[in-house]
Amino acid sequence: MTQPLKHYLQFADFTADEYAYLFERAALIKRRFKAYEKHHTLTDRTLAMIFEKASTRTRVSFEAGMYQMGGSVVHLTSEGSQLGRSEPIEDTARVISRMTDIVMIRTFEQARIERFAEYSRVPVVNGLTNEYHPCQILADIFTYIEHRGSIAGKVVAWVGDGNNMANTWLEAAALLGFRVHVSTPRGYEIDEKLASSAGGSGAGSYQFFSSPLEACRGADLVTTDVWTSMGYEAENEARRLAFADWRVDANLMAAAKPGALFMHCLPAHRGEEVTAEVIDGPQSVVWDEAENRMHVQKALMEYLLLGRLN
Ligand code: CP
Ligand code: NVA
Repeated sequence: MTQPLKHYLQFADFTADEYAYLFERAALIKRRFKAYEKHHTLTDRTLAMIFEKASTRTRVSFEAGMYQMGGSVVHLTSEGSQLGRSEPIEDTARVISRMTDIVMIRTFEQARIERFAEYSRVPVVNGLTNEYHPCQILADIFTYIEHRGSIAGKVVAWVGDGNNMANTWLEAAALLGFRVHVSTPRGYEIDEKLASSAGGSGAGSYQFFSSPLEACRGADLVTTDVWTSMGYEAENEARRLAFADWRVDANLMAAAKPGALFMHCLPAHRGEEVTAEVIDGPQSVVWDEAENRMHVQKALMEYLLLGRLN
């Protein structure tokens, strides 16, 4: 069966209707996994994974997920492949996409994955770039729905860096009809051009707050991320100083709604962007978020390769 070629490079690549399908499908795939039922919809398909940055969750969730669907996986890093010796990304795309059925890439600039996709014969999935992390937000929204139902009309508080996770939350808000309250230190603001690429300005779906406490007031979900993302390590010391007041603690959680959830894409640094009390506390759903990466990505790979199945 062949599908029209479709990539997943940023959250705005799918419509709200496609997300509704994916969330339902991921729930079914998760139920089958929990019941030890076989779900071999991708037998004989091969996923190539290219990591130009480190990973634990992304690697395990894609790799285990592909095997669980009857497929197999090839794992590459830049250092261990010719990418690290300057083979052009266009040539790499042409070659890998002649031998495999789908490719997941974790890399630096979004432009790099876009170039790969342009020369690829098979679907390409963004496993994190400097600008976006769509698979993580897919898992986070699925997790929200599992715990609280629809996210439409809800308020998500983003506390911290205006990074790939923040940009993707803003894209998702414009598409799925929720709002994001953003609080970043000065100098680490969101680039609104990246956040509003969901086919519109995104206006009305986000609001900026100088105080992290004000951003959390009345929120249904509070979320944060590391102060220093991969690739920005040289800024570590400056960031430590700038982000000192952007830590999710019990005080910030108390400003949110009583039943508010806490999320973090992980890895986390307890005592920096979040206290141990919050991340290990009753409102935290971080382990569900991590597990759900696998279930939603199984639904995603299946959709890109086979289209709608129910
Ligand atoms: N959240 C996430 O993408 O984790 P890894 O960096 O471990 O893949
Ligand atoms: N913003 C973080 C997310 C890690 C999963 C980074 O890019 O390093």
